[in-house]
Amino acid sequence: MSARAADTSVFLAACRREPVPYRPIWIMRQAGRYLPEYRQLRAKVDFETLTRTPELAAEVTLQPIKRFALDAAILFSDIMTPLQGMGVDLTFAPGPVVREPIRTEAAIDGLRALVPERDVPFVLESIRLIRAEAPRGLPLIGFAGGPFTLFCYLVCGRPEKEFETARAFLYSHPEASLRLLERLADAMGAYLAAQAKAGAQALMLFESWAGLLAPPAFERFALHAAQRTLAALRAAGVPRIYYVNQCGALLEAVAGAEAEVIGVDWRMPLDRVRRRLGPAKAVQGNLDPAALFAAPEELERQAERVLAEAGSAPGHIFNLGHGIWPHTDPEAVKRLVDYVHERSARPPHAVKATS
Ligand code: CP3
Repeated sequence: MSARAADTSVFLAACRREPVPYRPIWIMRQAGRYLPEYRQLRAKVDFETLTRTPELAAEVTLQPIKRFALDAAILFSDIMTPLQGMGVDLTFAPGPVVREPIRTEAAIDGLRALVPERDVPFVLESIRLIRAEAPRGLPLIGFAGGPFTLFCYLVCGRPEKEFETARAFLYSHPEASLRLLERLADAMGAYLAAQAKAGAQALMLFESWAGLLAPPAFERFALHAAQRTLAALRAAGVPRIYYVNQCGALLEAVAGAEAEVIGVDWRMPLDRVRRRLGPAKAVQGNLDPAALFAAPEELERQAERVLAEAGSAPGHIFNLGHGIWPHTDPEAVKRLVDYVHERSARPPHAVKATS
């Protein structure tokens, strides 16, 4: 068993860049298809019903928590769920498919503003239930899709390899693109604020596809919109995590985001990431999800490398660099979580020395 204080969250302390007794770890997409107990439930209940039934969403959220010594839970939902609340007709197959892609001014203006209590009450109820049931006083992370990632799915209609249709739309219709992004940004601001009010103790923006953009387009479109969401959460008083996949070429811009924590992919070592982000940001990441397929000793070496590159300065949350793959062996996750805790545990005097 790893060391764990029941009354204080090591994860939240690391978000605030406070010294911690060991490195907190959670895993992006930690609830889902790699877990047999999830697949068992999914055999009986479709994905949307899982996300819309608070008792089931709470159960799935807590599945990985019961199995592994993770330091945070993340709400079970999807980045596309609030868009359904805004009137977008979409299905999951298993990735999101939008019935009528949004590519005209009329379609953009037709998007309803999101009123979370009215449009997605089940999400807020799920949060309340999870908070009541979470074991070991574990904190709960609420989340939303980054405006540009949502834009990609809405404009393309279905996943594309490099979201070509959406990126072409940015250049062919820049003003309409900005309007759509700002609408999405405001909706996600309201959505995340409501999640914090319902009990979420940290808020994460998943910007999975903004790394496809050239730096000027990233700043003009993706970062501009994300900043609008992040600014709306200032008053929520909980740590904000801004994750940008493939952000190596964008780090200087990302460092200017109004977020306490920056989540990064595995393509750049964390010592370089931290130098470029500066001391005012905590960092989250960044083991390659593929490393979970290594033999046990090699997985430990890879985890060790990430810990070493993150260094001893406060403000590192261990995670993968992107979501866990559906065919990952749960035993590898257990090994990783326990190893990170054991290797990073320090007696209290050593913790003081790093502060
Ligand atoms: O523990 C968790 O993190 C689970 C909650 C969660 C889901 N989706 C559940 C889900 C979260 C945080 C997400 C975020 C999400 N959804 C992102 C951002 C993170 C990332 O991986 O980049 C994106 C891009 C999506 C869009 C999406 N939804 C895709 C691409 C898919 C299909 C394939 C996949 O990756 O699982 C979904 C459907 C979806 N969302 C599933 C789950 C568990 C699979 C549904 C099923 O059981 O059939």
